[in-house]
Amino acid sequence: MADGRVIAVAGAKGGVGKTTTAINIGVALAEAGETVAIVELDLAMANIIDFLQFEPERTLHDVLSGTVPTTEALYPIEERLHVLPAGTELAEFNAINVAALAPVIRSLRPAYDFVLLDTAAGVSPETIYPLRLADEVMIVSTPRVASIRDAKKTIELAHRVNGEVAGVVFNRAGTGRAPPPERLAGFLETDLIGAIPEDETVAAAQDMSRPVTLFDPDSDAAAAFHEIADTLVLSDAPSDDEDDNVLGTGGFSDLQNAEEIVKSAAEADPDGMGGTTKPLEADELSTGDPDDNGFEFVKRKGE
Ligand SMILES: Nc1ncnc2c1ncn2[C@@H]1O[C@H](COP(=O)(O)OP(=O)(O)OP(=O)(O)O)[C@@H](O)[C@H]1O
Ligand SMILES: [Mg+2]
Repeated sequence: MADGRVIAVAGAKGGVGKTTTAINIGVALAEAGETVAIVELDLAMANIIDFLQFEPERTLHDVLSGTVPTTEALYPIEERLHVLPAGTELAEFNAINVAALAPVIRSLRPAYDFVLLDTAAGVSPETIYPLRLADEVMIVSTPRVASIRDAKKTIELAHRVNGEVAGVVFNRAGTGRAPPPERLAGFLETDLIGAIPEDETVAAAQDMSRPVTLFDPDSDAAAAFHEIADTLVLSDAPSDDEDDNVLGTGGFSDLQNAEEIVKSAAEADPDGMGGTTKPLEADELSTGDPDDNGFEFVKRKGE
């Protein structure tokens, strides 16, 4: 049995399927007998409640502002699956201190077999913290060039904060002219954890505010999520490394560190995501651009 394994589901590109993946892997893990908490770490654009049928009164914002204990903001979704949602009121965002996340995550570790962190798009302290706090980072990307570039940036940032990248999940795979997922994972110099096909059942499930793994367990997407969950259960959690001092365990100095990290990451790779030569500010790295249509990343022979 896993023992409080914390996995950050990450990828800087918006809309690639991080939340969909976190929820459905959570359902699949729970069905495999594991206890799971999903923590929504999208503090500015919280939307996990759109994927699930519940209306939370208490959220992560309340927990981080110290008014509510963590256990009171955890909602049972399925047997063995609890969700800790972020608040949807933008005004609440100002009240929270991202550095307070560490003790919250730490408190969940002994209570669950798996803690999945559903992270936000873009690059900010809010997105970088989970890369550091988690035992392992699961990168989610579509097989599209803009998403893969952002995935690479997320991997670089994870390494920079001593995060452990477990590998990449390619979502909406099998469309366009993309090379096979194995090859794309090779480009990212990481392991391929799994691939989820483009599947209209996913959207149909979301319209009903249900995870596809429950809405249509026989769908191709549900099967792929189960396969990934089984891989996680069967794989070992990465062992703790000793070189653990980039970020501490919470507090204001951690937040300052995270901001430093965002800045230095942008300066170190000014051409990375923005394609500009000036140092990028953190919010310039956010990725609200529409998906590129068609895959131009690797030309095949004869094209
Ligand atoms: N395999 C799939 N097939 C079809 N549609 C999908 C698939 N995966 C995700 N989607 C759809 O893509 C949209 C974006 O997914 P999701 O919200 O999970 O992405 P995200 O990475 O969490 O976005 P954000 O960065 O905004 O948090 C949703 O409408 C979802 O239903
Ligand atoms: Mg999301």
